[in-house]
Amino acid sequence: MESYLTSTNLQTVPSLTTDIVIIGSGVAGLSAALAAAKSSQVLLITKNEFSDCATFQAQGGIAAALEEASYEAHLEDTLRAGAGLCNQEMVRILVSEGVERVRELVKAKVPFDRQDGGLAFTIEGGHSARRVLHAEGDATGQTLHRSLLQMAKDDENINLLEHHFAIDLLHSRQAVFGIICLDTKYNRLLRINCGAVIMASGGLGQVYQETTNPEVATGDGYAICLRAGAVLEDMEFIQFHPTTLYLAGAPRFLISEAVRGEGAYLLTTEGKRFMPSFHELAELAPRDIVSKAIIRTMEATSTNYVLLDLRHLSADLVEERFPNIRAFCSDYGIDITHDAIPVRPACHYMMGGVKTDSLGRTNVENLYACGEVACSEVHGANRLASNSLLEGLVFGHRAGEHARENISRNSTSINAAIKFTTRTEPSQQIKRNLPLDIDDVLHSLRSLAWRELGIFRTGEQLIHAENTINFWSRYVLREVFTAASGFEAQNIMTVAKMISRAALLRTESRGAHQRLDYPETDDDHWQKHIQLSRENF
Ligand code: SIN
Repeated sequence: MESYLTSTNLQTVPSLTTDIVIIGSGVAGLSAALAAAKSSQVLLITKNEFSDCATFQAQGGIAAALEEASYEAHLEDTLRAGAGLCNQEMVRILVSEGVERVRELVKAKVPFDRQDGGLAFTIEGGHSARRVLHAEGDATGQTLHRSLLQMAKDDENINLLEHHFAIDLLHSRQAVFGIICLDTKYNRLLRINCGAVIMASGGLGQVYQETTNPEVATGDGYAICLRAGAVLEDMEFIQFHPTTLYLAGAPRFLISEAVRGEGAYLLTTEGKRFMPSFHELAELAPRDIVSKAIIRTMEATSTNYVLLDLRHLSADLVEERFPNIRAFCSDYGIDITHDAIPVRPACHYMMGGVKTDSLGRTNVENLYACGEVACSEVHGANRLASNSLLEGLVFGHRAGEHARENISRNSTSINAAIKFTTRTEPSQQIKRNLPLDIDDVLHSLRSLAWRELGIFRTGEQLIHAENTINFWSRYVLREVFTAASGFEAQNIMTVAKMISRAALLRTESRGAHQRLDYPETDDDHWQKHIQLSRENF
């Protein structure tokens, strides 16, 4: 959990001051920025380019009960998918304010797809109604991101910085006063003093060998917040998306659940449909069930993929709804109107994260979190499809609003003395003659995570994973790094430790957490959350 920075050398680092710093350029970060900028100066930083975020890649859509009598059915579906661990009040906020936030987007002319003069809706796994809005077919995330980014660029209170990697928060014992980041283009440190930080840095899929997540999803926000004293919750609950392209040499490209929503089937490699024998909703069962069914089918047929079949759907529908998926598969020789697509599950989404209240506040003063990095308890043990863009919109907005109101009350905190908790005492830092081979460390860690922290887990595997990660941590976390890739590797190691610890503690199966040695759900002992913090971890 350590960096090479010390409070002494921080005094010499160039600095700037603003009201609110937002880390991350996805839907949550941009929504927070737009809400906060109504009366505060906002600086939003992102470690790569603005479009390098999971939002930009989102295909399926945004779930919102715009055309239902009420949002109650959306609430019920979300609670059912969450397998007993959702916070009902948080879900109520999500689905009710979600309708308001999405209406604002429609009013702001975000080009959602239309049908017969109205908005077009699709359905995905676990939903009891067609309530998933989409844009430009399967480019919902890109379209939404483009619109929100443009609004942020047009707002004179928002400054946007690419290629700035957040290393750590500047904090006193229990309050945050800024951040220290690395300008990766010019390889220089920058200190940003501020009254509040909103962490919206996205997920951690890069812990796993197989993931749908972008390369930037290295879990930085979880590790940074842990180091600053924040509580993290539900870190054992990782969603594996059932259908990612499985082809030698191709990235694990997501094949949206909306494809099954429009009627695609899952087949064994011998062409037999198998989902109806696993669940009454067949291909539209909740994601955890579909992923487990695929793994079981692959085992039963001794194959390492299954097939997703759209060949019975009209070619016009496929072209109109899934232009990106069609184009991507075509680059690898698959015409999805004529060929079935080889697919298998991959790590997709972290339900847990930095624990927040309904206003996005963490237990550390002036530190907020929203989007995937946060745990607002709306997803419980398994997220309902297309609830994540909605969560980013709703809770990003709430965090931005609250930070803005809070900052005006606490404006003197900007000038408070800044302290920085060093990650490693200089005496403990490792100085070696040969550099650490980061790629090799990450390759080993990702394979381990895939094998032992994956869809099915056992106590024996989890103990082995934890011991192995602890051993690697002994030298990786004490290494002295100067480049973002080193800090990222440390963050990946830290979040892998959290996943294995929480997964070992939860001796039951629930939602996305499946223990082969504890196959039953145990409400008597485990209808509760596991929290980790610097003190108990
Ligand atoms: C998908 O399009 O299947 C992904 C949507 C989501 O993760 O909610």
